[in-house]
Amino acid sequence: MEGGGFFIAIEGIDGSGKTTHSRRLVKWLSKHDVKSLYTREPTDGVIGRMLKKMARQKNIDSKVEALLFAADRLEHLDKTILPYVKKKYVVVSDRYVYSSLAYQTIAVGDPEWVREINKFARKPDLTILLDVEPRVGLSRIKRHKTRFEKEDFLEKVRQEYLRLAEEDGLKIIDASKNVEEVFHEIISVIKEYLKIR
Ligand code: TMP
Repeated sequence: MEGGGFFIAIEGIDGSGKTTHSRRLVKWLSKHDVKSLYTREPTDGVIGRMLKKMARQKNIDSKVEALLFAADRLEHLDKTILPYVKKKYVVVSDRYVYSSLAYQTIAVGDPEWVREINKFARKPDLTILLDVEPRVGLSRIKRHKTRFEKEDFLEKVRQEYLRLAEEDGLKIIDASKNVEEVFHEIISVIKEYLKIR
């Protein structure tokens, strides 16, 4: 990305291990003297906090929610991601635009519209998809918190993620393996991309 930094997004269905691995990755990068930042969506900003509340509620219009996810993302890009990339950081985002392209496409049922409202969200340099069966992902969640955490819905989201991965060249990692094995694979992808020894 221009400015010298690098923007990585970690994606996957609920329970795929995104948060664990994003945080570990940032620690690993720091140990290798790479300036790095962990960040996430939904954000802790006003729109992100609203989205977290909405995710626990029923009877939410999925189109309204899709617009808010897109708005939260633009603010995230403008206020956090781009400024840190300019400072030559490796920014690791726990969820980004492919979360909307997968979840909101299934929730709303109109992929072109979901792409359209996210067209200003510039793509990361690298997106890693942690792929896991919903049954396995859901079994890992200790405290259930969103209406998205349903096996049949997540199976559709997973298939959409896999389709997007094929179409847009996301790096797929089998996240059904144990934490160490998955992290090892993430690190080999990162080393290759960032040319770290
Ligand atoms: P989290 O569990 O990663 O904090 O995300 C909260 C929920 O929000 C999760 O079930 C996925 C959902 N989500 C979307 O549906 N679209 C999005 O664009 C994002 C960022 C999250």
